[in-house]
Amino acid sequence: MDLQRTKVLLIAILYCILHWKQKMEHYLHGYEHDEQIRLHRQNAVLAPLIYRGINLLSTSNLLEVGCGTGAQILHLLNEYPNIHITGIDTSKEQLETCQEILCKNHISPKRYYLQWVNGKHFPYPDQSFDVVLFVWVLEHVKDPTILLQEAFRVLKPGGSLYITEVYNDSFRCHPPEPDIMWFWTEMERFQSALGGKVTWAFNWPI
Ligand SMILES: C[S@@+](CC[C@H](N)C(=O)[O-])C[C@H]1O[C@@H](n2cnc3c(N)ncnc32)[C@H](O)[C@@H]1O
Repeated sequence: MDLQRTKVLLIAILYCILHWKQKMEHYLHGYEHDEQIRLHRQNAVLAPLIYRGINLLSTSNLLEVGCGTGAQILHLLNEYPNIHITGIDTSKEQLETCQEILCKNHISPKRYYLQWVNGKHFPYPDQSFDVVLFVWVLEHVKDPTILLQEAFRVLKPGGSLYITEVYNDSFRCHPPEPDIMWFWTEMERFQSALGGKVTWAFNWPI
């Protein structure tokens, strides 16, 4: 191979590595329209499970970290007429769509506040919120402790922190079904290959 071709090949390899690394550091689900709508469909099914045992009747102000397109905000504003919600996200696209969806649903802008954040610092004073909520967010973050420290900082004394994330172990079934176990073992292998920290709970012999 001549020198010119070697150079082109090396540049192509470097480009692929950089592109792959950039993709890996981005939010996994992306911000396509279908994905933005999926978050609302998902919540229509899962909200009863997320909020089982949670009563926010005495909550005045709630911070949702990683509010996305507002599936939780819409649900909570409809459930609790006296609550005010601040929604923060690292994506301007998500926040714009969130704003559109809340407008389309005739939610008064006085009832919520949306703000872009850098993913490390919440731009609010200490002890500002009664409740801080994370739903399907920490699993996307490299160092969740930074966000958790911020959450504790902005929580009022005696406030509540609610977190919902995917827990792979909860997909076990009994009696064991080989095809389902195979599926989750492969899924965990895939998540691990993408840089996820998985437990390999499903890596049982089948
Ligand atoms: C799976 S979506 C969940 C959205 C919403 N909580 C829901 O239940 O529909 C995760 C969201 O977290 C946001 N996000 C990721 N890292 C973040 C960070 N460090 N701080 C704030 N938001 C973040 C993403 O942009 C995305 O909108």
